[in-house]
Amino acid sequence: MRILIVGGGGREHALAWKLSQSPQIEKIFCAPGNAGIASVAECVPLQAEEINKLQVFAREKEVHLTVVGPEAPLMKGITDLFVESGQLIFGPAAGGALLEGSKVWAKEFMKNHGVPTADFVVFNKPQKAYRYLEKASYPLVVKADGLAAGKGVVVAEDMNTAQKAVQHIMEEKAFGEAGRRIIIEEFLEGEEVSVFAITDGETVVPFSTAQDHKTILEGDRGPNTGGMGSYSPAPRLISDLEGQVMEKVFVPLIEGFQEESIYYRGVIYGGLMVTSQGIKVLEFNVRFGDPEAQVLIPRLEGDLFPLLYESARGNLANAPENLWSDNFAVCVVMASKGYPGAYEKGKEISGLERAEQMERTVVFHAGTAAQEGKIVTAGGRVLGVTAWDLSLEKALSRVYEATELIGFEGAYYRRDIAYRALK
Ligand code: AMP
Ligand code: GLY
Repeated sequence: MRILIVGGGGREHALAWKLSQSPQIEKIFCAPGNAGIASVAECVPLQAEEINKLQVFAREKEVHLTVVGPEAPLMKGITDLFVESGQLIFGPAAGGALLEGSKVWAKEFMKNHGVPTADFVVFNKPQKAYRYLEKASYPLVVKADGLAAGKGVVVAEDMNTAQKAVQHIMEEKAFGEAGRRIIIEEFLEGEEVSVFAITDGETVVPFSTAQDHKTILEGDRGPNTGGMGSYSPAPRLISDLEGQVMEKVFVPLIEGFQEESIYYRGVIYGGLMVTSQGIKVLEFNVRFGDPEAQVLIPRLEGDLFPLLYESARGNLANAPENLWSDNFAVCVVMASKGYPGAYEKGKEISGLERAEQMERTVVFHAGTAAQEGKIVTAGGRVLGVTAWDLSLEKALSRVYEATELIGFEGAYYRRDIAYRALK
């Protein structure tokens, strides 16, 4: 089988690394890939959002399955394009990708199909939102409708903060069109957990749980990033909740897609809050998390390929039961100096080979490039150093041992990944 992976970050490296171990795979292309992905795949100079060119490429190279990493090409309709021309692709159509692309659409969909979520109101005029805020009880949460790089959500303790958020999103148009509509919703108290599943639109196969650390500073403080580390499984989700997640979240979601004739094959990633009244969905994403994929995938003992392939074919009921190991996995992201603001690039990275010689350890590349035979930094998030073992403590001690072997000028990483799970 020939595979095309769309994307070029740590998540896509994890996918390529795992798929390269499959006895069924003969060739992997990755567009655009990165210097780490190049060790297991042929990198193709096409960007993830060049969906027309990707479709032509996949046809010309007789690719059997295209696997989409990031959300942007899905929202642009890469799946619609491939499906129209009869090419297999893992990922939902643009209509399904709205689950991530529009919070208003997602909340209304959840409400209409009985998926538990925080109570909410939608506004498309700031004046109406201000009037609502005068009578509301606090805390509450203000959210921009569209994608806003993790900055479109404000938990407001009081009216003043909430008003400022409305002003910022709707009047100052901080996120452009993404802020034309907003949601104001009930504040939920509880533990957060991320749950994953793979579906073909009928069958849902659970794909375990994970947690990420979004902020740049230790103690989960400071500005948001794309994710500074992750661990899996998430300890909060005790096994009896897994049945609840299937019954209350995944099943009604799939039934909703069927009722509304939405083409959804791919990953469902649910951000949940475990409250005293049960689980509620904070948000959905339509792809693997990054860096969550880096800890989910190494824990999978079986072959990943049949799951993705049968999902894309609409035949997931016949996929082999996926075999999870008993391992815990941890990923520590090494970032460039300055990230998540303006950051440096082109710094030589040392110690990669030594780190990779360690057992049950892999260094996933996020933002790297090859330059004159050297590997240099090329992004804000540079590497996702990942280790797994039968206890979280063992995985953690090895991941930090590996991280210490690696160096580049200005390298920064958090030393407290998974601290919540250790408590
Ligand atoms: P979202 O992008 O909707 O997942 O929101 C980003 C983060 O804001 C979540 O991971 C939560 O920590 C927080 N958050 C969002 N909605 C709520 C809510 N209704 N109650 C409490 N916290 C929330
Ligand atoms: N790590 C969060 C995300 O991928 O959205």
